[in-house]
Amino acid sequence: MEPNYYILLGAPGAGKGTQAAMLVLALGIPHVASGDLFREHLSKGTELGLLAKQYMDEGKLVPDDVTVRMVLDRLAQPDCAKGAILDGFPRTIAQAQALERALSANGQRIKAALYIKVSTEELLRRLGGRYTCKNCGAVYHIVFDPPKQPGVCDKCGGPLYQRADDTPETAKKRLDVYFQQTAPLIEYYRQQGLLREIDGEQPIEAVHAALLKVIRGE
Ligand code: AP5
Ligand code: MG
Ligand code: ZN
Repeated sequence: MEPNYYILLGAPGAGKGTQAAMLVLALGIPHVASGDLFREHLSKGTELGLLAKQYMDEGKLVPDDVTVRMVLDRLAQPDCAKGAILDGFPRTIAQAQALERALSANGQRIKAALYIKVSTEELLRRLGGRYTCKNCGAVYHIVFDPPKQPGVCDKCGGPLYQRADDTPETAKKRLDVYFQQTAPLIEYYRQQGLLREIDGEQPIEAVHAALLKVIRGE
């Protein structure tokens, strides 16, 4: 069977990570998140992690070459043979083109770019109340999606923390960078007939249902 590669497109705080975790269970393909991969590198103290940190702390994008290499290496792992849910990648036109080249070299292609649309006001509310698991990367929200026990991950019992780039100042910077460098991908995928738009301002379960409906309609 042809592998299914889905791209989750959307601003910081749109719910890409939240929805990807749910899609993993529904579709049985792995979640590949460039931001999570950078954070894993950083927690291990690798050279790549330390390089990425300089950009992430300022809300800027990590350079395309290192980002593309890291994600394509991940996609070459055996568990991605049936496809993957890409979250936070591609984030520039150059990254999108590099992904297409790599897939088409293997006779593969992107199935759909799923654009989760959320207003800027709501994005800032979500980023301001987000808590992330240090262990497994699961995300929570203090109001919209609280853990059963404060400060503790429901899934693995790990400790929850607030991401360094979720401060109001850095979050705003990330949104600026998104509108400048990533939002053009919406038009890019629309022109290729791959764009599917989902209203991301509904409750988490409703967004999930909307995504599944679109995916199953493919
Ligand atoms: P990355 O980790 O990708 O962050 P991001 O794109 O800024 O996205 P977020 O993780 O902030 O948001 P999300 O959409 O996953 O939302 P979530 O599900 O958590 O990137 C971080 C940095 O790494 C970048 O700034 C850059 O430096 C670097 N980087 C990464 N990829 C790169 C690339 N390709 N190229 C270059 N640099 C790269 O949800 C947010 C909150 O809202 C949570 O609290 C959640 O509980 C809540 N929530 C979710 N859905 C709902 C809902 N429907 N209703 C109410 N609350 C909700
Ligand atoms: Mg995320
Ligand atoms: Zn956890």
